[in-house]
Amino acid sequence: MNVSLSEKIPNNVNLSSDRKLQKALEAWLPNYIDWWRAMGPEGFQEDQIYLRTAISVEKGGWAHFDYVKMPDYRWGIFLAPPSGDNKIGFGDHLGKDVWATVPGEYRKELRRIIVTQADTEPASVEQQRLLGQTAPSLYDLRNLFQVNVEEGRHLWAMVYLLHSYFGRDGREEAEDLLIRRSGHTDSPRILEAFNKPILDWLAFFCFTMFMDRDGKYQLYALAESAFDPLARSTQFMITEEAHHMFVGDTGLQRVIRRTAELMKESPAENVRSRGGIPLDIIQKYINEWFTATLDLFGGDDSSNAATYFAQGLKGRYKESSSKRYLNHTAMDEIYSMDIPNSKGQMSSHEIPMRRAMNTVLQDAYIEDCEKSLTRWNKTLGDCGLSDQLTLPSRRFNRLQGVYSNHRFDMHGDLVSEEQWKKIRPDALPTTEDYEYVQSVMIPVLGPGKFANWIAPPKRGINSQALDFEYVRFERKN
Ligand SMILES: [Fe+2]
Ligand SMILES: [Fe+2]
Repeated sequence: MNVSLSEKIPNNVNLSSDRKLQKALEAWLPNYIDWWRAMGPEGFQEDQIYLRTAISVEKGGWAHFDYVKMPDYRWGIFLAPPSGDNKIGFGDHLGKDVWATVPGEYRKELRRIIVTQADTEPASVEQQRLLGQTAPSLYDLRNLFQVNVEEGRHLWAMVYLLHSYFGRDGREEAEDLLIRRSGHTDSPRILEAFNKPILDWLAFFCFTMFMDRDGKYQLYALAESAFDPLARSTQFMITEEAHHMFVGDTGLQRVIRRTAELMKESPAENVRSRGGIPLDIIQKYINEWFTATLDLFGGDDSSNAATYFAQGLKGRYKESSSKRYLNHTAMDEIYSMDIPNSKGQMSSHEIPMRRAMNTVLQDAYIEDCEKSLTRWNKTLGDCGLSDQLTLPSRRFNRLQGVYSNHRFDMHGDLVSEEQWKKIRPDALPTTEDYEYVQSVMIPVLGPGKFANWIAPPKRGINSQALDFEYVRFERKN
């Protein structure tokens, strides 16, 4: 598991021992850099950013911090060390040896899973490329760029798998990953949620809170995979992903804290008149992003999910390490969900557990989101407010799955189309809400300074002070 940092492509996969693969990846590198320069953060490519880079795969010792220009970032290929027992932990092949190569019969499915995951990585960089121009502080600007370069590294992780294990098809897929563009009419990104631009920082914090957290659960499901190189690639990606969710979770918490402070300082005044973001707008953003991410899990009752589980390609959250699953084959088990029946009433419906794997993963995700809500509500309480933020029902505002053909309110109760029209402006952001949020997005780029709509964080990055120069500008802003 030695890490080679001196090579053109830093790696711990002994890349130099496979000349053909090394050459192919070195040929992909300049195309990647071209893509980064064209589609990465706009306007900051020449600046020095205080970034962490992976230099080993050992727990706790892998993050190295230094100033670097983003196009010079050392993107590399890192796999987590082998776990030890090397046995498949679930599905029809339970207990057999994990696979070091791709079995012919699962090649198509694995390629599809890897390409879909890979496509989200550059997509999110593209979606966030304009945000730097309205950053609320140097600290936040640096965090945005950290997330961006690591999404770039995740693309490398997946491209390595495509190049190494999928031959010519894999190389073509790797090319296409640099050709598709978020929001492009002719060649958009694969998943719809990755095609809309992120235009304000409240949306960015929701993105990293909810979308990156969906990413975490997808990665956890792949970290169980019987295809060992995929499992170990995603295991290392999860360690990087934690920072992205930290950015989202604490970002939202800081916005909520600032709003609460403004509400307390002058109870008679509207938060807007003081340049803050009202709680009801924050709630609407939460509603929008939480429900959009639920759609990313795939069908609630899904034959694809059952197949992936049976074949050993995608497991459940912490399938092999937690005690929450009694039976790792999930045979002869049922999952019951409430869905609308033909009379338009809710009724309980039982499906085989394997077909419910997307929903089971979603359950773990929702539980995780609820913990953040509890923390944010504690922040409101600490500031002396009784207001509370909530997660809407998983049925609310869905575009995919069993709830997408009906209208539900925030509590998950069926409503008519007419009622929905009345509910909507109070439950989801309106054009005016977006415009208001954008109107307060004024860049604040002096060390230690923060925009008025967001509280400073508790501490800096890597034990640095809050007024540390997290970004050194080549040009003067
Ligand atoms: Fe990622
Ligand atoms: Fe991420």
